Amino acid sequence: MKFFVDTANLDQIRDAQNLGVLDGVTTNPSLMAKEGITGRDNILKHYVAICNIVDGDVSAEVIATDFDGMVKEGEELASLHEQIVVKLPMIKEGVKAAKYFSDKGIRTNVTLVFSAGQALLAAKAGATYVSPFIGRLDDISTDGLNLIAEIRLIYDNYGFETQILAASVRHTMHIIDCAKLGADVITGPLSSIEGLLSHPLTDIGLAKFLADYKKGN
Ligand code: E4P
Repeated sequence: MKFFVDTANLDQIRDAQNLGVLDGVTTNPSLMAKEGITGRDNILKHYVAICNIVDGDVSAEVIATDFDGMVKEGEELASLHEQIVVKLPMIKEGVKAAKYFSDKGIRTNVTLVFSAGQALLAAKAGATYVSPFIGRLDDISTDGLNLIAEIRLIYDNYGFETQILAASVRHTMHIIDCAKLGADVITGPLSSIEGLLSHPLTDIGLAKFLADYKKGN
């Protein structure tokens, strides 16, 4: 199972990389805006900066919503760095673009996926990753994790190689549940990954070990 961090914040990306368990980064236009990264040139430079911190895949999202625009932008993004994965929205033109890039050997992440049917289309188009947004489904009283289970079943039925990238992960239990369901990747805030560390019995046990050591030394 791969762990991606879902942020454009370079300090958080560095922290996640230093933890030693990071496999990649996802970004989106909202996350870029949150860091104050605006203007095409600055955005492109920021993607390269992220690639220079992490070893794994870095999703960079196109802004165009027409096929020609997506192809132009996607090719520019892919040429920035070998770690870049072109992120495309799940719309008709995005599916066409995913097929185009797949035929050219350029990796893609089809994003804003909210149904099993959309995930099936992304796989048919040869997407490298499909990003079902589980947190946003939970937000509207729909079971996001159930979507992960449905996609896993469908992909396994036909041996699709598209990797299920569980996105919009909001907390640590989402990660555990995605692992149980067989998601290939999760992406979420660093806090959701760091939450995997915590257990009060670990803290109590360590304090006792250290106290007992001090008694004899
Ligand atoms: C994934 O690629 C998206 O950037 C992300 O996971 C969206 O998460 P949010 O619903 O917390 O904004």
